Amino acid sequence: MEDVQKGPVEIEALLRQRRSVRGFRPDPVPYNVLNAVFAQAQLAPSNCNVQPWIVHVVSGAKADDVRTQLKRHVMSGAAAGPDFPLTGSYPGEYRTRQIGAAVALFEATGVARDDKPARMLSMLRNFEFFDAPHALFLFMPEWAGWREAADCGMYAQSLMLAMAAHGIGSCAQGALSHYASFIKPLLGVPDDHKLLMGMSFGYEDTDHPANAARTSRACVDQAVTFHH
Ligand SMILES: Cc1cc2nc3c(=O)[nH]c(=O)nc-3n(C[C@H](O)[C@H](O)[C@H](O)COP(=O)(O)O)c2cc1C
Repeated sequence: MEDVQKGPVEIEALLRQRRSVRGFRPDPVPYNVLNAVFAQAQLAPSNCNVQPWIVHVVSGAKADDVRTQLKRHVMSGAAAGPDFPLTGSYPGEYRTRQIGAAVALFEATGVARDDKPARMLSMLRNFEFFDAPHALFLFMPEWAGWREAADCGMYAQSLMLAMAAHGIGSCAQGALSHYASFIKPLLGVPDDHKLLMGMSFGYEDTDHPANAARTSRACVDQAVTFHH
């Protein structure tokens, strides 16, 4: 009986362990661990098994160079140059959830809701990779569409769960795709690769205030309809 229960308990623990980490220790993840984690993420499913994810990881001096240049670029007021249109404002309940996540982060980090400069600094943390020793940029080939974006989402969650299982924290970042046209030359990535999202990762700084933020979820019957 114990064995029957073991699987579900472990997957729930892992799913709960993965949460967005926005403050990291500087020590890098050893290469053999990174290799194991990325090998596990390769098990993600995809439409027709096409595996449309193209991943570029930056670490060490390269990570520092990219974060410095990217932050400078954003602070210069340069227009965003995403490969996919940015989502405008969220309607109704989706907006309520968005505000809930933002409030959790602002409360944890002591940012007042009407403090615009502090909110801007909070947003800029994205481009510092939240001080993580590693970041990745997830591209798709030019021909890819909505279905392949779903494949990449499966890949990203697989990767984050594999990281969590190895004690590595992560934060998926749409923000890292907003300046795609600036990032591609920094990585030597051809323009016909389309940047879907980024991710910062490394070992969590458990003392960082941002990491005290917690989000909630709607209950199952708000998301799922069972038909009989
Ligand atoms: C595709 C994707 C893009 C995201 N983009 C950002 C981002 O740009 N910056 C950020 O701080 N968090 C980002 N997040 C993290 C979400 O805010 C977070 O997943 C959500 O609030 C739920 O919280 P949790 O991850 O702690 O469970 C992103 C998450 C996903 C899946």
